[in-house]
Amino acid sequence: MYKKLKEAAQYIKSVTDVLPRVGLVLGSGLGAFVERIQNPIVIPYGKIPHFKECTVEGHEGRLILGTIAGVPCVVLQGRLHVYEGHPMEDIVFPTRVMATLGIEILILTNAAGGINQIFRPGDLVLMEDHINLMGHNPLVGPNISELGPRFPDMTEAYGKDLRNIFQKASLSLGREIKKGIYASLLGPTYETPAEIRMLRIIGADMVGMSTLPEAIAANHLGLKVCGISCITNMAAGIEQKTLCHDDVKEMAAKVIEHFSNLLCEGIALIKEQKI
Ligand code: HPA
Repeated sequence: MYKKLKEAAQYIKSVTDVLPRVGLVLGSGLGAFVERIQNPIVIPYGKIPHFKECTVEGHEGRLILGTIAGVPCVVLQGRLHVYEGHPMEDIVFPTRVMATLGIEILILTNAAGGINQIFRPGDLVLMEDHINLMGHNPLVGPNISELGPRFPDMTEAYGKDLRNIFQKASLSLGREIKKGIYASLLGPTYETPAEIRMLRIIGADMVGMSTLPEAIAANHLGLKVCGISCITNMAAGIEQKTLCHDDVKEMAAKVIEHFSNLLCEGIALIKEQKI
């Protein structure tokens, strides 16, 4: 695994001189953010040694290097999900490659269903913490000690400093950002109304099928992590509606302008505050 990471990073370094400080993973329907990257170098996942291709609509499968608000960044336009049948090791491989390239900060984004009734479709919500209900963990198996410790602390899996920065960034754009706990299930079915009632009782504010593998791997690597959910729909049973991926993508498209502004503003503040 360690050798594979080095090979993937070596290939990327052979294509570009950009030394990224911040990594971003774009969730379902949020890929259009890449238009904000300056001087982009685009590498399809298929060209990078050991990277797996994306199979889900709305996940383009490209790694892009460039600058955002003057900060060198690497952006994953599309991610792998556990429900696609990929082993966890493949799902977190791109996160580990970004760390091998030298990122210190990882910004994870996703589309999510709103459980907390103060949320509305179209809201962006900062992840304060998570509940892992995927039934798996990417660190299962022999620990790769070159990457991190056997038992990583998860007390502050989503750093307070980064949350404060994105709160400030949102305010400077004239909008207060909400905060919440993200629960991740395996999928690919959306949840049942009974599952959503259970998730509410155990303290979840929003639900999705991604992000936690990368967040866990990133904490293992010692990266600073920030999570932003785009509430694309209210979760099952809250409104008299059925759920579908087209509606998720449609709502993500409506929010993309504000989402992109928030990321750019947040990254500008990261640069200013030197965190
Ligand atoms: N549930 C799970 N994942 C999701 C949802 C949802 O309601 N909306 C977008 N991704």
